[in-house]
Amino acid sequence: CYSSEGKPMKQRLLVVANRLPVSAFRRGEDSWSLEISAGGLVSALLGVKEVDAKWIGWAGVNVPDEVGQRALTKALAEKRCIPVFLDEEIVHQYYNGYCNNILWPLFHYLGLPQEDRLATTRSFQSQFDAYKRANQMFADVVNQHYEDGDVVWCHDYHLMFLPKCLKEYNSKMKVGWFLHTPFPSSEIHRTLPSRSELLRSVLAADLVGFHTYDYARHFVSACTRILGLEGTPEGVEDQGKLTRVAAFPIGIDSDRFKRALELPAVKDHINELTQRFAGRKEKMLSFSCLLLVMLGVDRLDMIKGIPQKILAFEKFLEENPVWRDKVVLLQIAVPTRTDVHEYQKLTSQVHEIVGRINGRFGTLTAVPIIHLDRSLDFQALCALYAVTDVALVTSLRDGMNLVSYEFVACQGAKRGVLILSEFAGAAQSLGAGALLVNPWNITEVANSIAYALNMPADEREKRHRHNYAHVTTHTAQDWAETFVSFESHPPTPFLLLADF
Ligand code: G6P
Repeated sequence: CYSSEGKPMKQRLLVVANRLPVSAFRRGEDSWSLEISAGGLVSALLGVKEVDAKWIGWAGVNVPDEVGQRALTKALAEKRCIPVFLDEEIVHQYYNGYCNNILWPLFHYLGLPQEDRLATTRSFQSQFDAYKRANQMFADVVNQHYEDGDVVWCHDYHLMFLPKCLKEYNSKMKVGWFLHTPFPSSEIHRTLPSRSELLRSVLAADLVGFHTYDYARHFVSACTRILGLEGTPEGVEDQGKLTRVAAFPIGIDSDRFKRALELPAVKDHINELTQRFAGRKEKMLSFSCLLLVMLGVDRLDMIKGIPQKILAFEKFLEENPVWRDKVVLLQIAVPTRTDVHEYQKLTSQVHEIVGRINGRFGTLTAVPIIHLDRSLDFQALCALYAVTDVALVTSLRDGMNLVSYEFVACQGAKRGVLILSEFAGAAQSLGAGALLVNPWNITEVANSIAYALNMPADEREKRHRHNYAHVTTHTAQDWAETFVSFESHPPTPFLLLADF
């Protein structure tokens, strides 16, 4: 498309996600302060020059009064964001309930929460009704802001009902839906009471995307086996209407990390951290390598396999006494979804295990595990990645896992080793450079830790080079660009398969 002056016009995009990329804090009756969270999606879209994006989503706060809502809407408009206001009851049923207590564990192969299984089964219908109501509220806001020619890009498991609601408003609207989690085997999906309704709603979209070819394949199988539709190499066909289905593996904005490592503040931070661990490092000089700091950075979520990771580290210490007091596991566990019971239980479980292991292997001067229940700012995180010798990304399941990418991007000088779960989407792209593990097998993870700590420099170099090349060439910007331009330049199905 061209403007009246003959210049190419940017594609207008409405990005719809459960959460806006800003956190809002109320300062007074009609005043708000906003903090941008520069997550993967934001940097991905900022990098796509041909796109003019606006965001629609929940601001993450309850704003019951009109004065507050008007003021927040105005403040967000400056950041190109449009809020969807959800009240506490709907957040409880839709976000805490259906999204995070039902869909999230199910899509990560964890089933329904054990203790609450019966209770969850009983409240299922009311939570699903709330889910549909919430999705309809998102659709209403999209519809108010939609202009002819816009592309609407819906994100994640929170909004599986949205494509259908949008097409009911306007069948010509171009709608894409992308899932950031795994899509499980059709045998798992078919246990969901609302399995067919969800699939049909997603199929209302023109394009459906997943991180890996396997997730896309599971989705197509679910549509053929559960709905009896026809799967084609391009997607799923229902009475002559084709919904394209494809894999679009996300990446990171690797330049942002490269730039950060050049900042004086980050360099100072790296020096401080290096000095802090130097004492322990010298003791290891008799070894052929200088690897010492092991790092885990995860949201405190059951899918991240934090207890299993820590138990594997305990096994490693048990079986490798020579490394005790010479290696430290730094686990950053960022609190998340703290209103959901399962997450509260996980926090206590992790604290209990860390306490026990530190009691068992700690000395008066050092403990083997430093565990922090908090997030770190971007610069501190970059510094930590840069001084890390071995990163442990051992999710039980993970849509992609960008921590593994971020670690690689910050390892320019060090050539640290990545231990990566075979159940993270990233295993399909970083598998050749990482040490792949089954996170449920703590003996295997313990052995991989020992292997990583003793890995010869030339092997580290080779593995790092492979991963670094991938992370710096398959960026978040490429991901967003491919998805948004897919309709106009669809790759052939053969290319789609060959890419993975
Ligand atoms: C995952 C989901 C995202 C979600 C994020 C944080 O990565 O795929 O959609 O935003 O977790 O979870 P929260 O519930 O805090 O938004």
